[in-house]
Amino acid sequence: MCGIVGAVAQRNVVPILLEGLQRLEYRGYDSAGLVVVHNGQLERVRSIGRVAELTEKSANTQGLIGIAHTRWATHGVPSLRNAHPHISKDLIAVVHNGIIENYEVLRTRLTTAGYEFTSDTDTEVIAHLIHSHYARGNSLLLATQASLAELIGAYAIGVVAADNPDQLICARRGSPLLLGVGIGEHFIASDVSALLPVTRKVVYLEEGDIAEVGRHSYQIFDAQGKRVERAVQISEMSNESVQLGQYRHYMQKEIHEQPQALADTLESVCNSQSLVPGIFGAEAAATFADIDSILILACGTSYHAGLVARYWLEEITAIRCTVEVASEYRYRISVPNPKTLVVVISQSGETADTQAALNYAKAHGHLHTLAICNVPESALVRLCKLRLLTRAGPEIGVASTKAFTTQLAALFLLTLVLAKQRGRLTTEQEQKHLHELRHLPSAVQKVLDLEPEIAILAEQFANKHHALFLGRGLHYPIALEGALKLKEISYIHAEAYPAGELKHGPLALVDKDMPVISVAPNDALLEKLKSNLQEVRARGGELYVFADANTHIQAAPGIHIMQMPEHAGYLSPILHTIPLQLLAYYVALQKGTDVDKPRNLAKSVTVE
Ligand code: AGP
Repeated sequence: MCGIVGAVAQRNVVPILLEGLQRLEYRGYDSAGLVVVHNGQLERVRSIGRVAELTEKSANTQGLIGIAHTRWATHGVPSLRNAHPHISKDLIAVVHNGIIENYEVLRTRLTTAGYEFTSDTDTEVIAHLIHSHYARGNSLLLATQASLAELIGAYAIGVVAADNPDQLICARRGSPLLLGVGIGEHFIASDVSALLPVTRKVVYLEEGDIAEVGRHSYQIFDAQGKRVERAVQISEMSNESVQLGQYRHYMQKEIHEQPQALADTLESVCNSQSLVPGIFGAEAAATFADIDSILILACGTSYHAGLVARYWLEEITAIRCTVEVASEYRYRISVPNPKTLVVVISQSGETADTQAALNYAKAHGHLHTLAICNVPESALVRLCKLRLLTRAGPEIGVASTKAFTTQLAALFLLTLVLAKQRGRLTTEQEQKHLHELRHLPSAVQKVLDLEPEIAILAEQFANKHHALFLGRGLHYPIALEGALKLKEISYIHAEAYPAGELKHGPLALVDKDMPVISVAPNDALLEKLKSNLQEVRARGGELYVFADANTHIQAAPGIHIMQMPEHAGYLSPILHTIPLQLLAYYVALQKGTDVDKPRNLAKSVTVE
């Protein structure tokens, strides 16, 4: 999704803006641009290529104040004329993340008032609107405030004026934005990683906030226009964690970081002798005692984590659990139950659909809310009563990997804590699970050792156009996740089915050109799965089976076996995810796609 960086300093801000944009590249974008105020004029540079191209084009640009943007197209195709910043009458420049829903009405009104539109974007109305108020003698702050009052939709914006070299204005509603605090300089960004080279001191703006930012001070006003103080926080994100190091891609690095990410997420639990609800927050014990069902809301990979959790929760805790795609739930008339624990799962904590679904649930009387999230300061964490933070570290690759497996670990902890509180977990069982959790990082490491074998296997997928993933029970969502990974980064069309469903339709697709990838844990459904695999083989389908030890599935012509370790019980979905991530990664390498920034996708989906 779009990214914003801005700076007001006593040095040339162009290198700061460009490095910030480069650090936001992972979010996904199709054009980039910046504007600085220099000698009383706006100097704008835009590019439809990568930030590297913008850097070349900006070689002779300088200024002590400026704003910059990477755009992920919503209104209007990716093109130079649609790239941000957008400028009104050479005086006002604006960068914007989000969507302005009433832009057509505003555009008609502003056109009638004499404003000329040079882009197809919704953003341009903001620039002209601010100009219209500024031209009447209002300060830049007041002009922006008045303009925002007329907007319907979501935004994070940065604004500068050609005749004001000392102040930039920024505001947010529905899209994240933060201030970076320096010495004699201040910054704005949509993501803290953009600012790490210049500061770690950040102030997260809240919904409806607007700020006037100068070199030596800044002032924040809330949605009612009242001056407010927001806490300065020290970002814990380390600069190294966003460096590529020895790896070829962030996705590869992040796949390999999973043992550490799991160890970090489970640290406090694994170092103690027993599980306590307090890991979810001070009010967790009382909240958990008051619930009779669970509703999980999430999108994409995070939704798949929720699907796995449903199997754990219903089987181990006997609490009824439903899992819904957030973008559907938010518009569905459902039956509220105040005794439901609403669990939102999100890597970024900023996904617009998940946020809206949570707000919708709260508005319908669901007050027991829990966020499982990888970003401590994110909106979802702030909106929920309880939280468990995964400690996966920054995930840069658009395809989610370590965030998923740490989400699963967190959801398994939730299952155990609820089971224990309900008397469904004996001390022996608790100790056994704790032991397995302590062992999990090294078990994952062992699966990572399959990498060279999977790299070779991937060669067989380079010319395929379709793939089918199969799983059963707890591992059906893992098949879904494997298929999602493959489509996201290799652009191969992949579908996932519960293996028992094959004969009800998808079997018609199976022939020698349809590779069928199966997750084959040594669990209670193994024999059923074996029969399903026979159905595939009998139709000439090529089978790729990730099989636990002792499954006795034999390699044969058309049956390729990838040997997994011993069955890991309830934690098996975490182990079986790893080879599917590696498979997608190596198939994408074969196809030569942009692994970390696949086409059309964005890392944080902050628009609906
Ligand atoms: C996964 O590989 C995705 N890129 C995507 O499905 C992602 O999981 C989804 O957009 C939800 O994001 P979140 O976890 O940040 O809320």
